[in-house]
Amino acid sequence: MKLLLILSKAALIARAIAMPYDEYILAPRSRTLHPVVMHNTNGSVSNPESLTSSTGSSIFDGNAATSYDFGINIAGVVSLSIASVSDLSQYIGVTFSESSYWVSNASYDATADADKDETLWFHVAAPRRYTAPPEKERGGFRYMTLVHNSTGTVEVTSAEVHYTAMPHWEDDAIANYTGYFHYDDELLDRVWYAGAYTNQLCTIDPTHGDALVHIRKINSSVSDATNVTWYYNTTITNGTSSLVDGAKPDRLVWAGDMAIAVPGIVVSTNDVISIENSLNSLFDIQGTGGLLPYAGRPFPSVVSFTYHLYTLIGVADHYLYTGYIAYLQSFCVDSSGLMNATSSADWLCFSMGGHNIEENAILYYINTHGIELAVALNDTSSTSNWTIIAERIRASANELLWNEEAGMYIDNETIALMPQDGNSWAVVANLTVNSTQVQRISAALASRWTPYGAPALEAADAISPFISGLELQTHFLAENTTAALGFMRLQWGFMLDDPRMTNSTFIEGYSTTGELHYAPYLNNARNSHAHGWATRPNSSLTFYVAGIQLLSAGNKTWRVTGTPSLGELKIAEASFSTNVGFFSAKTQISNDGTWTMEFGAPQGTSGEVKLPAVGCVGQVLLEEQNGNDEDVLVVVLAADAGPVTLGGLPVGKWAARYECRSE
Ligand SMILES: *[C@@H]1O[C@H](CO)[C@@H](O)[C@H](O)[C@H]1NC(C)=O
Ligand SMILES: *[C@@H]1O[C@H](CO)[C@@H](O)[C@H](O)[C@H]1NC(C)=O
Ligand SMILES: *[C@@H]1O[C@H](CO)[C@@H](O)[C@H](O)[C@H]1NC(C)=O
Ligand SMILES: *[C@@H]1O[C@H](CO)[C@@H](O)[C@H](O)[C@H]1NC(C)=O
Ligand SMILES: *[C@@H]1O[C@H](CO)[C@@H](O)[C@H](O)[C@H]1NC(C)=O
Ligand SMILES: *[C@@H]1O[C@H](CO)[C@@H](O)[C@H](O)[C@H]1NC(C)=O
Ligand SMILES: *[C@@H]1O[C@H](CO)[C@@H](O)[C@H](O)[C@H]1NC(C)=O
Ligand SMILES: *[C@@H]1O[C@H](CO)[C@@H](O)[C@H](O)[C@H]1NC(C)=O
Ligand SMILES: *[C@@H]1O[C@H](CO)[C@@H](O)[C@H](O)[C@H]1NC(C)=O
Ligand SMILES: *[C@@H]1O[C@H](CO)[C@@H](O)[C@H](O)[C@H]1NC(C)=O
Ligand SMILES: *[C@@H]1O[C@H](CO)[C@@H](O)[C@H](O)[C@H]1NC(C)=O
Ligand SMILES: *[C@@H]1O[C@H](CO)[C@@H](O)[C@H](O)[C@H]1NC(C)=O
Repeated sequence: MKLLLILSKAALIARAIAMPYDEYILAPRSRTLHPVVMHNTNGSVSNPESLTSSTGSSIFDGNAATSYDFGINIAGVVSLSIASVSDLSQYIGVTFSESSYWVSNASYDATADADKDETLWFHVAAPRRYTAPPEKERGGFRYMTLVHNSTGTVEVTSAEVHYTAMPHWEDDAIANYTGYFHYDDELLDRVWYAGAYTNQLCTIDPTHGDALVHIRKINSSVSDATNVTWYYNTTITNGTSSLVDGAKPDRLVWAGDMAIAVPGIVVSTNDVISIENSLNSLFDIQGTGGLLPYAGRPFPSVVSFTYHLYTLIGVADHYLYTGYIAYLQSFCVDSSGLMNATSSADWLCFSMGGHNIEENAILYYINTHGIELAVALNDTSSTSNWTIIAERIRASANELLWNEEAGMYIDNETIALMPQDGNSWAVVANLTVNSTQVQRISAALASRWTPYGAPALEAADAISPFISGLELQTHFLAENTTAALGFMRLQWGFMLDDPRMTNSTFIEGYSTTGELHYAPYLNNARNSHAHGWATRPNSSLTFYVAGIQLLSAGNKTWRVTGTPSLGELKIAEASFSTNVGFFSAKTQISNDGTWTMEFGAPQGTSGEVKLPAVGCVGQVLLEEQNGNDEDVLVVVLAADAGPVTLGGLPVGKWAARYECRSE
């Protein structure tokens, strides 16, 4: 066969030493941080801008305050260097806030649902360096305010923060990612990097979990408590790092949050140990009947059916991305272990009042994934029962809860509400029985968008970045790339660039009107501005836009999809490293329909490539990049060819190029 073009090997990927696109990485390059700019100042403060360096000099005289901006959301322990004081009774107070909205010289934003947190006071009786006690490490703040509350003067020469997120990574390596992403839409690139950074800020020293000093004691509906005490000194997991829900509150292990954060971490930092430490901490407090906790220590015991299932999803995800069979086996050694927890008896224990679509979709999902895990463990004795249970759930849900007229599932059989969570989960879990349902759910959800994102109608006045992450996946599974990209630009664009946000990390939730009020919290200052459950775009962009998908445990099989539909966009690329090695894919499309793809996968894996649909007659040359001429595949595509899947590709780096052929 005559080839239409010859590939130029020199033009193909040569990896640079530095990680490509690392200029987008928000993580600091050093643990020693100073403010980037002064935010505002009042009272008599000389030369306040000087504290943006380590050798400043700013004199506070009488009642005065200055707020500083670190440019991005950070976390850490503050140290003040004092050069001189007028007398022994001088104090400098410090307050912190994630959002510019709560910058105050009187209090912090809040770690509990009880108004604001108390000011951190330093009695600066002599010139020296003062460092906050370890339990006063602050997680999640972009703004820091220094307050002087008396007559007399204090000269401050530096206001420094020792950055504490990613405690188990080398001081100079916090920004050393294992994956990257690039698309020719800068907003979506920034969304990807802000998501990766959000998950880093939610990775903390396990001895610095939130002590929940006031939980169930005070809240702002029954108390006018101000200046509330807070400590971060509860040990929440074993190991030297933990993945928690949020950087400020709750700073605890929550399995639901992990369901979104884990794949995002795999494609950016591959920080598997923090995931393991957090999962282990949930199994460590598993109840006698096998019930897994709603949240990790020290959160009070609450029965949650869905969070039990989310913990099992965490185990399944861990196995998918690492393939560590020994870790999976460790959960099955005693009678209250995972596999028993997914037995039919356990499911029945959790039957709900109504047949709720979200719960049943998650149940279906974990049932089908539980079967994969059982097969991996050679424990097939119970899998036939699980298959029966799963199919029963699917049949009943579609019979009882599908509303053909609306093209959505209702929440349960006694209510007309059509929820965002249950409909998205039904698609993600493959509870649907035909692709028309998937497209109709995608379209119905998209028709609800407000200028601030997708409302969760099942919750009171809430936009949930968590459930919206599942909706995002729904649009990709409906193969509507236009809807998925539009949704990310709308909702994650708002969450990234609105001036009240940190412009570097993603928020826990907010109102459908765009107000920073998240329905479950009485106190708006408590909202978390760095929440791992808001980071779905990371895995979605890498898996669906750049198109590298891991299909089986331990990344043994993969699929490169090219880019399903770049729309007006012309290039998408991503790469990430797992324990088996390095995966990469890059697709470029020109205006005339010509495209090139380059992709690579590590030794010991095999996969398939799905060539994009084409609009003209032509052919594809697929060449292995190991210099072996025998590994050349030529595929002829007709003008009306849809996506073509080629399976069983041997390991290596490949390049494909397609050109239209004039007939
Ligand atoms: C809270 O702290 C601020 C600043 O120190 C102070 O003005 C205010 O009186 C305090 N409120 C209470 C209730 O203690
Ligand atoms: C300043 O604040 C500290 C800490 O709350 C307090 O002990 C001190 O009395 C205050 N000084 C004045 C003059 O209010
Ligand atoms: C992290 O990356 C920086 C910049 O490439 C490099 O100087 C540093 O040595 C790396 N740190 C580690 C621990 O690999
Ligand atoms: C946490 O810090 C507070 C305030 O210093 C202290 O009273 C408490 O005992 C500490 N808790 C632990 C577990 O260290
Ligand atoms: C750490 O592991 C030990 C042994 O499994 C367990 O007893 C302990 O409760 C764990 N601690 C935490 C905080 O998870
Ligand atoms: C499941 O539980 C039963 C009854 O407690 C026990 O006999 C069996 O060994 C357990 N199986 C696993 C895999 O832990
Ligand atoms: C259906 O959901 C609604 C709203 O959540 C709830 O009030 C109702 O009790 C549920 N129906 C049943 C049978 O549980
Ligand atoms: C399952 O069985 C296969 C084939 O006998 C074996 O290679 C594999 O190690 C077994 N896996 C486990 C987890 O025991
Ligand atoms: C499967 O279901 C049947 C019928 O409900 C039950 O008798 C059997 O014990 C179940 N098997 C397992 C392995 O759970
Ligand atoms: C979803 O279910 C259908 C059967 O209705 C099946 O053909 C398909 O493979 C499933 N998809 C996935 C991703 O498991
Ligand atoms: C898809 O499945 C739903 C639920 O069973 C059914 O109502 C609908 O008619 C089906 N649509 C098509 C096009 O098959
Ligand atoms: C994809 O979504 C867009 C935007 O929501 C919509 O206009 C379009 O009709 C959808 N396409 C398909 C094929 O459903």
